[in-house]
Amino acid sequence: MHGACWNSRLNLQGDTWVATDPGLVQKIVEALDVDGGSTLRRPVHTVGVGATGFFEPSDVAPDYCIAPHFLAARTAVTMRFSNGIGVVEPHDGWSDVRGMAVRFHLEDGMATDLIAMTLPVFFAPDPETFLEFATSARPRPCRRQTAREKIIGYLHLRLPMPDPYPGQTERANEPAIAFADKVDWAKAAVLDASSIGAPVSYVREAYHAVHTFIVTGRDGQERHVRFAWQPVAGVLKMQPGEVFTDGVVTPNPAAEPIAEYLQKDLGRRLADGIERFTLTMTIGETGDPFDDSTRRWPLHRRRIMMGTLTLDRLVADQEQGCERLSFNPCLLPETGIRASNDPVLALRRTAYAFSSKRRGAIPCPFSGSRDTT
Ligand code: HEM
Repeated sequence: MHGACWNSRLNLQGDTWVATDPGLVQKIVEALDVDGGSTLRRPVHTVGVGATGFFEPSDVAPDYCIAPHFLAARTAVTMRFSNGIGVVEPHDGWSDVRGMAVRFHLEDGMATDLIAMTLPVFFAPDPETFLEFATSARPRPCRRQTAREKIIGYLHLRLPMPDPYPGQTERANEPAIAFADKVDWAKAAVLDASSIGAPVSYVREAYHAVHTFIVTGRDGQERHVRFAWQPVAGVLKMQPGEVFTDGVVTPNPAAEPIAEYLQKDLGRRLADGIERFTLTMTIGETGDPFDDSTRRWPLHRRRIMMGTLTLDRLVADQEQGCERLSFNPCLLPETGIRASNDPVLALRRTAYAFSSKRRGAIPCPFSGSRDTT
C-alpha cells in the first residue's frame, strides 16, 4: 500500500485540536472489547469484506471542494464493509450498525479515508461521555418480549423492544435504551440503532460519515459539511422472520439463523457486474451543530451530489489487502478538506492508531511508526 509516503507528508491538523489523553484513549478502546472478540482483530466492526473500484466526481464537485479526489477525473479506491458488532463470528442476519470505510488513492502515493456507518448520528458528543456510554451499553443476552409484556409496556407509554432476529442471542439495545433514558444526547442514535435491522446486502444501505468537515471550494470559500453515501440500488432491509432470496425479501418461516450471507452476496454481485454509490455532501448553516455529531441538521439543508463510487471487484487477498489495513477518519488530504473541532473526531485519530497497533495491523498513518508497507 501507500503508507510509507503518507508519513513524510502527513496533514496532522494538529493546530486546531487539543491532544487526547493517551490513557483515556486506551480505556475507551478497551471498553469496546466484548466476549467473542479478539485483540488481534478490530474491537468493533470486526467482521468485514474488502472491495476495490474507483470514484468519479460530479461536474459541480470541484466548485465546492478542491480536494484531489474531486479534481481528478477518476480516483482508485479500496474499501471495506463491516458489521458493527465486535465479535469474530459473523452475525450478518442480526440487527446491527454496518460500516463502510473508503480509501481514496490520491496521486503521488497519498491517500485519504472516508469512514461511514448506517447511523446518521453518533452516541456521544465527547470522549469522556463516550467512555460512559461504551461502559454502560454492553451487549447482553436478549429474548423476544411476550405479547403480555409488550401490552403492559404500551400501557406505561414504553415502546416495545424489537424482536431479536433469528438466532440473535445478544444485543446492546436494552442497556443502551436505559442509558439514553437518562442522557439526552444519546437518544437519537440509540433509538435509530435499536431498530436498525439487517440489510439484504452491504450495497443496499446508506452510510453516513457523521462528523462535520470543513471543505474549501474553487473560489476559496469554506463550508461546514457532512458526507453520506447513498446506494444507487436503494436501501432494502429485512425484518426479523424474513430472508432475501433471488432478489426478493420473503418470509423465513423456519426462523433459521442466517449467520453469513453478506460477503457471499457482495462476491456474487461483483463477479456478475458492478455496484454503485453516490456521495452526497450536506452544507451546514449558521447555528447548526458543527462540533457535535449526536445532533442532526435540519432536513432541508442544501445537499450536493459530489460523485459516484463504482465497486468492481473483491480484494483478492482479504487478509493482507483488507483485514490488516488501518483506516483513519483523520487521514485527510493536504488541501480541500479539514477536520472540524468535533472532539470525537479528534479522539478517533488516536483511538484508531492505538487499535491498529494493538492488533498488529499495517500501521495506521497516525501511529507514529515509519514501518508502513
Ligand atoms: C468515540 C468514537 C469512536 C471510537 C472510539 C471508535 C473506535 C473504533 C476503533 C478502535 C476501530 C477499529 C480501528 C482499527 O483497529 O483499525 C473502529 C472501526 C470503525 N469505526 Fe469507529 N469509533 C468511533 C466512532 C465511529 C463513528 C462516528 C463512525 C462512523 C462514522 C465509526 C465507524 C467505524 C467503522 C466503519 C470502522 C471499521 C473501519 C474498518 O473497516 O477498518 N466509528 N472504530
